[in-house]
Amino acid sequence: MKSTTKLSCFLQLLVLFFLRQSSVSSPFTTANSSSTFPSEALPTKSGYLPINSNTNSAIFYTFYEAQDPFLPLSQTPLLIWLQGGPGCSSMIGNFLELGPYRVVDTQSENIQHLSLERNIGSWNRIFGLIFLDNPIGVGFSIAATPEEIPRDQHTVAKHLFAAITGFIGLDPDFKNRPLYITGESYAGKYVPAIGYYILKQNMRLPEAQRVNLKGVAIGNGLTDPVTQVKTHAVNAYFSGLINERQKGELEEAQRKAIEFVKMGNWSEATNARLKTLDLLQNMTGLATLYDFSKKVPYKTRLVTKFLQSVEVKKKLGAKESIVFDECSDVVGNALLEDVMKSVKYMVELLVKKSKVLLYQGHFDLRDGVVSTEAWVKTMKWEGIERFLMADRKVWKVNGELAGYVQKWGSLSHAVVLGAGHLVPTDQALNSQAMIEDWVMDKGVFACGKKGVPHQTPWSHPEIYSP
Ligand SMILES: *[C@@H]1O[C@H](CO)[C@@H](O)[C@H](O)[C@H]1NC(C)=O
Ligand SMILES: *[C@@H]1O[C@H](CO)[C@@H](O)[C@H](O)[C@H]1NC(C)=O
Ligand SMILES: *[C@@H]1O[C@H](CO)[C@@H](O)[C@H](O)[C@H]1NC(C)=O
Repeated sequence: MKSTTKLSCFLQLLVLFFLRQSSVSSPFTTANSSSTFPSEALPTKSGYLPINSNTNSAIFYTFYEAQDPFLPLSQTPLLIWLQGGPGCSSMIGNFLELGPYRVVDTQSENIQHLSLERNIGSWNRIFGLIFLDNPIGVGFSIAATPEEIPRDQHTVAKHLFAAITGFIGLDPDFKNRPLYITGESYAGKYVPAIGYYILKQNMRLPEAQRVNLKGVAIGNGLTDPVTQVKTHAVNAYFSGLINERQKGELEEAQRKAIEFVKMGNWSEATNARLKTLDLLQNMTGLATLYDFSKKVPYKTRLVTKFLQSVEVKKKLGAKESIVFDECSDVVGNALLEDVMKSVKYMVELLVKKSKVLLYQGHFDLRDGVVSTEAWVKTMKWEGIERFLMADRKVWKVNGELAGYVQKWGSLSHAVVLGAGHLVPTDQALNSQAMIEDWVMDKGVFACGKKGVPHQTPWSHPEIYSP
């Protein structure tokens, strides 16, 4: 067992060595811009995972094996990443956030050169990392017919389950690797949905067919929209971004979204939420609500341009006839009635049967810290009181303040300082430290003595002061 592992590690190194040797950075030029895709930046595997044997619908994936695993590969955790939207491609996560290489641009003689640069904070340092373009119709994924595009989270989960089990089936060594589902923004719906679906399937499937789900992580997620939409006005007001009269206007807009939910008019509820955000955008005049500290929005367009190159599509094994779009309006519209529906009950099962990490970039005004805390405290889970009473620990990475972490039992909450909505883009190394320590139960995520508070109330005399 051990020696075969050693052998396979050696073979891997050998392959890596040859890949490095043969790396030719041929630039692909299209009219005004050129793209460079060095061989060492290629995924370990990529292509399509069928989700329905009767149609050609399939989920596109890229897989990057761990760069520096400290466990045999057959025991090395696998992370799955899902982008939000609804309708946005996980290739944004891959090439702008947490993948091993990121798209960067340089200008010369009016030509934009797009190339790939190593990401020092990649999430595949010690874990395998899989990006899935979800749901079908997004990014390079294929929806055979528009009717097959999911309109609810159950269908999203069903398709993801087919893709994930399909991926695991690609290599006998994938079967027992601990699996973690991660994602951001609207994946605050997808991540709980697929996690919940896996738990339910595992209850009825024979052991050999179960999925080895260990945990889920959600970054700046939309999970319990009604509770979350109520927080925009107070959050902006107490951040000094709007005045009291504007706070009243914003509260009125939020109330409309909730009224539509009560009427069961889900599409109008979604539109009312978007109108609330539009109003907040107009009031604040910010470059982006995704990060109130930014002067310019995130450069997601670079990724889109890069992936529109035919040569890049060829290298990734993506269908060449697909014109890559950062977000699909067709998929976004299909999920219009899903947006305001809560999946909190799914997180309540996941926190009992696996572990859950909720993390937010501190500068996000769309799905930020306040909006997450608002729904977390309403969770039906026997540990919630103790979680809420747990200390919020000062979290440092390499001796520097990185944020705050609160943890009790299987639930962890992290606030990432110096980051907006796309946490790994803004805080590469800290986001890497966060995900690695959370998966491995290390550092601020170490398992304390269960049920014993970190500090007794008597060690805080100041709580008795007026
Ligand atoms: C080249 O770039 C300019 C300015 O960005 C643009 O107006 C023009 O349409 C581009 N041409 C082609 C062939 O893409
Ligand atoms: C939702 O509300 C809009 C605007 O009031 C209305 O036009 C539409 O018919 C409603 N839809 C449903 C399903 O009630
Ligand atoms: C925000 O401003 C734009 C441009 O002035 C306007 O078209 C839009 O209606 C405004 N949105 C809201 C919700 O007031």
